[in-house]
Amino acid sequence: MIYLDNNATTPLDPAVCDKMSWFLKEHFGNPSSLYPIGRDAKELITQARETIAQALGASRSEIIFTGSGTEADNFAIRGVLDAFPDKNEIITSSIEHPAVVETANYLEKKGARVIYVPVDPYGSIDLDFLKDSITPQTAIISIMHANNEIGTIQPIAEIVKLAKKQGILVHTDAVQSFGKIPCNVDDLGVDLLSISAHKIYGPKGIGALFIRKGTKIQPLILGGHQERQLRSGTENTAGIVGLGEAVRLLMEKSEEDNERIAKLALELKNGIEAQITKVRFNGHPTNRVKSTLNFAFLGLEAEAVLLALATKEIYVSTGSACSEDSEEVSHVLNALGLKPEVARSTIRISLGRFNTKKDVRTVLQELPPIVRKLREISALDPDLLE
Ligand SMILES: Cc1ncc(COP(=O)(O)O)c(C=O)c1O
Repeated sequence: MIYLDNNATTPLDPAVCDKMSWFLKEHFGNPSSLYPIGRDAKELITQARETIAQALGASRSEIIFTGSGTEADNFAIRGVLDAFPDKNEIITSSIEHPAVVETANYLEKKGARVIYVPVDPYGSIDLDFLKDSITPQTAIISIMHANNEIGTIQPIAEIVKLAKKQGILVHTDAVQSFGKIPCNVDDLGVDLLSISAHKIYGPKGIGALFIRKGTKIQPLILGGHQERQLRSGTENTAGIVGLGEAVRLLMEKSEEDNERIAKLALELKNGIEAQITKVRFNGHPTNRVKSTLNFAFLGLEAEAVLLALATKEIYVSTGSACSEDSEEVSHVLNALGLKPEVARSTIRISLGRFNTKKDVRTVLQELPPIVRKLREISALDPDLLE
């Protein structure tokens, strides 16, 4: 199998798996219990929190565990809006993940005003538009750090500068950037930042929200007062330990990994562009998470390409995994200004830690004849779509 859908989810790193199975076998205690097995579990959570804090340049008390990246995004936006009842505006972008888009839509129905900052054809947000959108009513600006479909990186530090002049809180969804590009919370200057374990070779169903000390926020989930009363519910202890181990590995390996992955991705990109005609690369040419490649194969249905590759045990995604089961064209590709037929011909290839040179060479052997054959039977004329 050649797995090239690392933006959808990553395989569990064997070291994370070992640490989690050790934990599950040896530690069943409830971290809220005061006797030793509870205290042991609590201590392991503290260690994981410390590792994550270190990786982000934060302090331990600023990390709150959540059930996913989605929950972290929901918590950041809804929690801040709840904490500022006299403000009702949210500024976000037109290419956010559904975890942010749907939260904004929900709050809009409840009476909030949501401003969607547009992007240019490379997916970079319009900073002037954002600046002009800020009003005394703005409670929060939530702009993703790197996009999950095209990899484009947003100028978070510059957004923070604009926001801070007016005392506005800034959240960034760093689910697709953490581990791939620097994510120091002080360099970025953000007040809130979301991460998710299963995008960094950790387990599914565990994420975290960085909340800068002193940030006013209300909890989303009420109950037994865990996580400094900000996220109740008995902790997903094994998940937290797995996330901690995944982050420890990132600190050890990500620099070397990212350099290697960037080279592989470039070889794949150059190979596709050299061997296949009428392909359109989507996303920023340079200011992009290098492991993400998004290509429109003009004149084809992306699903046909995906399924043909799957018969060779090569796994990629159409547009974004989060919208895979929907007929709708990806809102991200739409925001870039792509025609619907072009958007529907789009494949996302996302590389990761376990990909090899051999994977790239195999894809470059298998993909061109697949595209050629499908084009022979396609009713669409790629020339009309350029
Ligand atoms: C940018 C971004 N934000 C949030 C999420 C949601 O994270 P999770 O799957 O942990 O809910 C994803 C997952 O695809 C993502 O890519």
